[in-house]
Amino acid sequence: MVQLRLPKNSRMSVGKTWPAPQGAKRPKTFRIYRWDPEDGANPRIDTYVVDLESCGPMVLDALIRIKDEVDPSLAFRRSCREGICGSCSMNIDGENGLACTTAIDGIRGDIRIYPLPHMPVVKDLVPDLSHFFAQHASVRPWLETDTPAPEKEWRQSVEDRRKLDGLYECILCACCSTACPSYWWNGDRYLGPAALLHAYRWIADSRDETTGERLDDLEDPFKLYRCHTIMNCAKTCPKGLNPAKAIMDIRRLMLERVV
Ligand code: SF4
Ligand code: SF4
Ligand code: FES
Repeated sequence: MVQLRLPKNSRMSVGKTWPAPQGAKRPKTFRIYRWDPEDGANPRIDTYVVDLESCGPMVLDALIRIKDEVDPSLAFRRSCREGICGSCSMNIDGENGLACTTAIDGIRGDIRIYPLPHMPVVKDLVPDLSHFFAQHASVRPWLETDTPAPEKEWRQSVEDRRKLDGLYECILCACCSTACPSYWWNGDRYLGPAALLHAYRWIADSRDETTGERLDDLEDPFKLYRCHTIMNCAKTCPKGLNPAKAIMDIRRLMLERVV
């Protein structure tokens, strides 16, 4: 029987263990992915036991406590602590989500934390999102018009504004794209759910005057049509958005303009 193994330098090893502080009343174990490009070692899983009695309720609180009081070498991103900036996205207990809005108590047993899947890793829990953000920029996520700008502002009816609900709330955390199997296999050419949701946000905006060009840009066998409606994106989005629906809406518009 054929045995498949990861290349030697990709095999995970068992890392260090930091035991619970003395007298801990509510110990909880966190198993965290560690990799430092500068030490030349393989990735490893370090184990930290945190006393929840003296820790905030969210996974991000535990990571901050570990970094502040146990192991300052642990790297992760975070900023707002309120589910707004999108920077603390990671894979927690097998699902992509925001560390700052994921409750520790909601996870039974040890908590396993990895970087977002299928992205190059900068260090530990920090993924390299350069390509993801370049794809976002490629859909021209801003208002484009031909008519001269009005003196005050571009007006929009309440009804047209409502068409942007479920789209403008995206915080670009990348949880959806990195949970999408089509993006895993074709992420170099398939734009993925996040960039496509933003593309549709501007296609659907009544004030934008380049809808035709925007659709032309997406008319490509890879950029748009690699979505197979697997729905991982909608299932994982921490803001409750549905990128798969936005993708279907773009496809509908593509069809409508040829019939
Ligand atoms: S519905 Fe489309 S974009 Fe969403 S996870 Fe599935 S293939 Fe990816
Ligand atoms: S659609 Fe949701 S999961 Fe995807 S980037 Fe936006 S907020 Fe994150
Ligand atoms: S820290 Fe901003 S979304 Fe979590």
